[in-house]
Amino acid sequence: MPRGIDALGDLHGRRVLVRVDFNVPLRDGAVGDDTRVRAALPTIRDLRDRGARVILCSHLGRPKGRVVPADSLRPLATHLAGLLSAPVSFCPASTGAAAAAAVATLRDGDVLLLENLRFDPGEEANAPAFAAALAANADVYVNDAFGAAHRAHASTEGVAHLLPAAAGHLLLREVTTLQALLDAPARPFVAIVGGAKVTDKIGVIDRLCEVADTILIGGAMAYTFALANGGRVGASLHEDAAGQATARRAQARAHEHGADLILPVDSVAADAFAADAATQVVATDAIPDGWLGLDIGPQAAERFATIVRGAATVLWNGPMGVFELAPFAAGTRAVAEAVAACSGTTVVGGGDSVAALTQLGLAGRVTHVSTGGGASLELLEGRELPGVAAIPDA
Ligand code: 3PG
Repeated sequence: MPRGIDALGDLHGRRVLVRVDFNVPLRDGAVGDDTRVRAALPTIRDLRDRGARVILCSHLGRPKGRVVPADSLRPLATHLAGLLSAPVSFCPASTGAAAAAAVATLRDGDVLLLENLRFDPGEEANAPAFAAALAANADVYVNDAFGAAHRAHASTEGVAHLLPAAAGHLLLREVTTLQALLDAPARPFVAIVGGAKVTDKIGVIDRLCEVADTILIGGAMAYTFALANGGRVGASLHEDAAGQATARRAQARAHEHGADLILPVDSVAADAFAADAATQVVATDAIPDGWLGLDIGPQAAERFATIVRGAATVLWNGPMGVFELAPFAAGTRAVAEAVAACSGTTVVGGGDSVAALTQLGLAGRVTHVSTGGGASLELLEGRELPGVAAIPDA
């Protein structure tokens, strides 16, 4: 485990550079979903209470090394100030003279947010000069950006080697919770994996075959599995021969490890990708020509929900269907409600499943909502996250 911020001791007078993941959706220039901002509050509050001069830095979007005004972090400073009930100053640069001047005005307990790190090409390139420029304005580095910990960038990796470094409360909680699923899950351990492509999730499915008792498959990837098993999927989204071979390998691997990999027996099919399309419930492996499967069907939803409710550990990543469109939301809703009703340890990761849970008002009813999409998948695959590896061990 990486060293946590408790090890940093008294921080009065210390300039603490904190990498957070404020990569949140903005709507009309305001923060849409602030889950990631709230998740960073325990670390920010703790550092302020300990007298630190808090310098927050983050990326937003993918501006690719250029200044893109729509990706400015400025709205986040206003939003964070509201959550903290304290002023948060904003610096329209992340390094250089402007940043140095902004940092110089900080008093103990003050909070400053720097501009989007990805406006500088040195961030994603993990350029030593950019990491050094970030480090130049701080005495200590804290990484609390779990969502970006799978990126070896200057602010997540490079700078950790230049300053005394520690993990924030969010980063530690994420790593501890997700790692516990792999190391010592209470059984039965049920994983629900959805989303569009088997190939995107195969790493995690492979790993889950080793540790989970049951793997429930939903989302469009179910149609690649159905095709791989000789079924007909009509016009449903599916992968090519290579993706189907990957699906077959996953099934063989589950069998080898004694895990049940369960596909949805039925699907809600539509004659168009639209909320007002005609729909019918059909067998997932017998979708009529011209129709597309857009959700798991009622039988599958009931079976999945029963299995999830009886689990001692649940991991959910990826929606069961196109839940943004009301006629295709029932499968995802059934799974979300079952996860919320499960009395075991329940962990939800991945942007879409977290969004579904939040929309249904159920986010507070699960043990842990991960703030990491790609990062949580990579950790669950058993891969080392560069942002975690760069911090000295506890
Ligand atoms: C995320 O949203 O998953 C993280 O903030 C990482 O963003 P990225 O995929 O653009 O690196």
